[in-house]
Amino acid sequence: MKIGFMQFSPLLGDALGTMKAIERLLSGCAGVDLLVLPELCNSGYNFTSYEQAWDTSEAIEGGPFIAFLESKCSSHNMHIVSGLNERDGDVLYNSAVLIGPNGYIGTYRKLHLFLNERDFFQPGNAGLPVFDIGSCTLGMLVCFDWIFPEVWRILALKGAEIICHPSNLVLPGFAQRAIPIHALFNRVYVVTANRIGTEEELTFTGVSIIADPRGDILAQASRAKEEVVVREIHIALARDKMMTPRNHVLNDRRPQEYALLTENAIVKR
Ligand code: ACM
Repeated sequence: MKIGFMQFSPLLGDALGTMKAIERLLSGCAGVDLLVLPELCNSGYNFTSYEQAWDTSEAIEGGPFIAFLESKCSSHNMHIVSGLNERDGDVLYNSAVLIGPNGYIGTYRKLHLFLNERDFFQPGNAGLPVFDIGSCTLGMLVCFDWIFPEVWRILALKGAEIICHPSNLVLPGFAQRAIPIHALFNRVYVVTANRIGTEEELTFTGVSIIADPRGDILAQASRAKEEVVVREIHIALARDKMMTPRNHVLNDRRPQEYALLTENAIVKR
């Protein structure tokens, strides 16, 4: 199975221009099974007003960016996970969508909003779904979700073998350090597709990553260049949860000692 990321710079408020860039970068993607794109691909990230966030959003049903991705997945016989500024009724979500050769499959809505995202988006209300696409079972997280180990573990417990992670990272290199560790802890593949470029005061950090279930980095992009990077993976490695012949990373947990994890505890120190 071939999986990869597209690292590029979605254009703030110019979905058509972004689609042209994706189309150009897809030309080198023959034979890719699963490609991950950055967060908020249809809109850009650093909105200056709620109106701008609203005007650049789209509904899953009938949305032009979704239709574009559907046509590309069909013509390339591939799956794509992409960040989407999603409109649902009168609410916006910072979502990731999964599209396949036969069209739209499913959505994850970002649970952990970062900084000013709270001014535009509602926290996700669609849980942590996983999707069996035939060649693998995958889950999705979006950007700042990276710092919450709970969601990575939940996806692994639900059977995700690949976690697709559209991102617009701005903090200096922290997520890129954490991603291989999440992959190792859960013995899953992770594809973090980060964006590049700047929007006003924000500079996005690139260095998109493919990490394997051993925590090895199979691919790491540059800091600021457009790149599509693809790697051949062996999904059986993500199905083997044994760290030693007698240690299964999921079944050896002691959840009776973890109750605090599901409480809304205010930790003072
Ligand atoms: C982020 O969550 N976009 C940093």
